[in-house]
Amino acid sequence: MKRKVIIDCDPGIDDSLALMLALSMDELEVLGITIVCGNSPVEMGFENAKKVLKQMNRLDIPVFQGADQPLKRDYVNALDTHGADGLGESFLEAVPGYEQKKNAVEFLEEALIQGGCSVIALGPMTNLARLIRVNPHAFELTEEIVSMGGNYKSHGNCSPVAEYNYWADPDAAALVYETAWEMQKKIHMVGLDVTRQIVLTPDLLEYMKRLQPQTGSFVQAITKFYFDFHWKQEHLIGCVINDPLAVAYFADRSLCSGFEAYTAIETGGISIGQTVVDAMHFYQKEPNSVILTEVDALRFFTAFFGKVLGINPEKPDLLPALVRYGTNLPCSREQGEK
Ligand code: BDR
Ligand code: CA
Repeated sequence: MKRKVIIDCDPGIDDSLALMLALSMDELEVLGITIVCGNSPVEMGFENAKKVLKQMNRLDIPVFQGADQPLKRDYVNALDTHGADGLGESFLEAVPGYEQKKNAVEFLEEALIQGGCSVIALGPMTNLARLIRVNPHAFELTEEIVSMGGNYKSHGNCSPVAEYNYWADPDAAALVYETAWEMQKKIHMVGLDVTRQIVLTPDLLEYMKRLQPQTGSFVQAITKFYFDFHWKQEHLIGCVINDPLAVAYFADRSLCSGFEAYTAIETGGISIGQTVVDAMHFYQKEPNSVILTEVDALRFFTAFFGKVLGINPEKPDLLPALVRYGTNLPCSREQGEK
């Protein structure tokens, strides 16, 4: 049976790749896409989601606009990373229309209250926090929450200790984790510890173009800016694609492993946005999170290519290329590296 899911996101280059992956998976039924301000302002994220849906021939999937500001702090976008259009300065043709009468929180509430639906959160958690405020029971009925965000031992990407999604709206993330604890739920945290190992390299992109020129060219158009950003930022040849790992992990738990712990999010001071993971059980609190620390990057790329390019991973034209390449998969700069 297909698993029902809502994708809450801020497209965003890697969000767009995550949407492409989710929409290619037979095992998922994407009920809707909810947009939050994050990488791009919410209106821009809405426009970008429609561009991805058009590319995937899936404009039947509804997209709902959500929060245009974090709960408390000032909004800080990430257009320096994602380009002036939020989609790598690809400046793809706009897809007019498709506005919905409901907003993202109304849609989340209506869908989640039915039960049996999960959320993959790929941006700041503002929409989920607003849902908790209006209808905590709908949040409680969420089957599973997988969140790309946070970092355990890996360093931050917005400060020495904080990852963007939780840093951009720490109050929302704190509320979501604390409410999960109260409700004895566990958030699956697909943080930088694992996503830093998911580097789309020029070679992998070239394989995509060879295997499926139309899709490969689309991916190239939206990632070029991101490649340049990573080169300027850390002299990495390639780009870290965080968000698709959360989707792939949602569908296949065996891609990542980690441990359960109580986690809180810092909401002020120099550590604002930091994920405080109580791995040593200091607080003596029941776990509210599954912290992922290990990932099989080669298996991720095999699944990603197989699904997004519509190639059977058993087929010999895909796997040998990846397996040969897999032994050399790079990782983004880790703590202490120059
Ligand atoms: C996260 O922040 C955004 O820039 C990405 O889309 C991803 O969700 C990584 O820190
Ligand atoms: Ca994102």
